[in-house]
Amino acid sequence: MKGLAGRKVVVTGGTSGIGAATAQRFRDEGCEVVILARSPGPDVITCDVGDRAQVERAFARIDSLDVLVDNAGVSLRSAAVDIGEEQWDQVVATNLSGAFWTAQAAASRMLADGGGVILFTASTNALVGYRYYADYNATKAGLVALTKSLALEWAPTIRVNAVCPGYVLTPMQEAEYTPEMLEQVNRRIPLGRHATPEELAGLFAYLACDEAAYFTGSVIVMDGGETAGSVVSGPGGPGA
Ligand SMILES: NC(=O)c1ccc[n+]([C@@H]2O[C@H](COP(=O)([O-])OP(=O)(O)OC[C@H]3O[C@@H](n4cnc5c(N)ncnc54)[C@H](O)[C@@H]3O)[C@@H](O)[C@H]2O)c1
Repeated sequence: MKGLAGRKVVVTGGTSGIGAATAQRFRDEGCEVVILARSPGPDVITCDVGDRAQVERAFARIDSLDVLVDNAGVSLRSAAVDIGEEQWDQVVATNLSGAFWTAQAAASRMLADGGGVILFTASTNALVGYRYYADYNATKAGLVALTKSLALEWAPTIRVNAVCPGYVLTPMQEAEYTPEMLEQVNRRIPLGRHATPEELAGLFAYLACDEAAYFTGSVIVMDGGETAGSVVSGPGGPGA
């Protein structure tokens, strides 16, 4: 992808699923990749993104960066009436506050250096309702609002965009859905399957590259057509 070679990229939650595939894709593009994650590993700075002091300590070791993929997230399936304070706080701290603390730390360096790209991993859960994920959905909708506000505030120096994946086959998804549930979901997606983490990684690489220079404040859905129609859309077929 145009202009990516040699760029310094930080990926939060880059040890698993979409984040791991994205980190690998940027390495393949010739970037230098640093991962912020809770557990140690190669190229990893350990950091719970929901803890602002830890984010500041992690960024003290990153003097400059060109791209932030703000991707760490948790999702816990619960009926809304059963969501306790501990779960609510964990989901909000990781998915929304953590995304903001990392974006803020990245932006202070990018503004000083004169450029950068910040990409949030939101979700189709930000755009339409889903049962049993009220806390998660609220955080992802918050990321869409953050994307638009930060894009305005940091333009023209930093481009800020959000990606809204639909269903992606990752450890997060496999932890919450039985094989039968995954099949049931696949039958309802127009393209008939989950996305792969690598497909999302390709979109992040494109949005970070120079050919995407006019994207900012955008919310880009990649969901196999899942949210293209209403829930009462009829079955497919000629003339349907
Ligand atoms: N899998 C899907 O279907 C799907 C759909 C839409 C959006 N998403 C979003 O994509 C992102 C990646 O999810 P995934 O499916 O790859 O899940 P995953 O569980 O495989 O990866 C999540 C990553 O975030 C890290 N993480 C979690 N809490 C953290 C914290 N407090 N500090 C630092 N790192 C933390 C985890 O260690 C892991 O590396 C998440 O934001 C998720 O909400 C996933």
